[in-house]
Amino acid sequence: MPALNAAQVRADFPILANNPGDPPLAFLDSAASSQKPRQVLEAMDAVYRTSYANVHRGLYPLSVRATELYDAARARVARFIHAPAPENIVFTRNATEGMNLIAHSYARAFLQPGDEVLISEMEHHANFVPWWVLARERGLVLRFIPVSDDGQLDLAHLDTLITNRTKIVSLAQVSNVLGTINDVKTLGAAAHAVGAVMIVDACQSVPHMPVDVTDLDCDFLVFSGHKLLGPTAIGVLYGRRTLLERMPPFMTGGDMILSVGKDAVTWNAVPLKFEAGTPAFVEAIGLAAAMDYLDAIGMAAVRQHEVNITSYALARLRAFPDLQLLGPDDAELRGGVASFKIPGLHPHDLSDFLGERNVAVRAGFHCAEPIHQRFGGDPSSRASFYIYTEPWEIDALIDGMHAADAVFRRKRTPRA
Ligand SMILES: Cc1ncc(COP(=O)(O)O)c(C=O)c1O
Repeated sequence: MPALNAAQVRADFPILANNPGDPPLAFLDSAASSQKPRQVLEAMDAVYRTSYANVHRGLYPLSVRATELYDAARARVARFIHAPAPENIVFTRNATEGMNLIAHSYARAFLQPGDEVLISEMEHHANFVPWWVLARERGLVLRFIPVSDDGQLDLAHLDTLITNRTKIVSLAQVSNVLGTINDVKTLGAAAHAVGAVMIVDACQSVPHMPVDVTDLDCDFLVFSGHKLLGPTAIGVLYGRRTLLERMPPFMTGGDMILSVGKDAVTWNAVPLKFEAGTPAFVEAIGLAAAMDYLDAIGMAAVRQHEVNITSYALARLRAFPDLQLLGPDDAELRGGVASFKIPGLHPHDLSDFLGERNVAVRAGFHCAEPIHQRFGGDPSSRASFYIYTEPWEIDALIDGMHAADAVFRRKRTPRA
């Protein structure tokens, strides 16, 4: 599979093309949020300039046009993840809101005290805290698939973790800390075998590799637009139609109703039942443009580029003195993130130091404290990659790490 041409891709990203800086910006924080190509900016600008009016309300041509573009964006998202129909797609603010929607609507309505929700030790807080809160509130039992030393889900005791008490299994397809790619299809089949629903947190997978919800056979899947070259404040919840139909609304108000009277209120059809108030329709149109952009490259090529750049990064990081890399060794088994610790060099110091050299990496717990507790409790540094990442950025990171090492670490922990 030919990889993409990252240098050519970069030219489409104003922040990378116009702001080379001195030294040039090495942006290694795409797992937190990606940069945006001009095609996305232009699509949103065009709506505001030529086609802007509120959707689902006006019968005049401008509103009809905006509504058509919003509907087309929903269909575009459905195609991108191979959902059966646009009605399977609920627009949310982000993945966090999608997960809260499932917890507040599906789980509140259908789970009973004593029912179990199974997640893993490597989940982002977005797939941890909503279940933790609900478990406290409703007497649910929250259980965890443990993580092995090499950063994989430890499935040795899966038959004691997924039982007929399990009602929800909710897992990241790709860990935002370890990079591990989880076999959510097989785990979904195990969940279905006991009558549980399978939720996939696809924040770090949908932007980076081909994802097919029909093939995964999952019940719900969530991701955020801002990590997928799209704007902020737009996210996606994919849901199986039969489940969405049965679920009560999450938020209520305008747009999500069919009729409202003093004695009776009826809900709108799926998916509008879950979209209360004026939606982020310009952002949805921007997200659709981002998906057009990625599909023009080809998601297989996107994935291949990430395997190549991650392999290069892992090799360079492993050669760094004393560095502890979190997650699987093999780039084929992971997404485009590399988290690491260097004894004696605090990630905040490192990130601050690298920032001075125009190298952007994340430092801390990356909204995933439990997995850091699993690996010793201290924070980590994280470099993450996307379609525009080039090897010179990894080199700038490693050079900066050596320079930081000399300034901070050797001063504090002199070698014998
Ligand atoms: C695996 C994973 N899940 C969920 C989220 C939450 O995404 P958002 O903050 O856009 O809701 C993130 C963001 O970092 C993530 O990496």
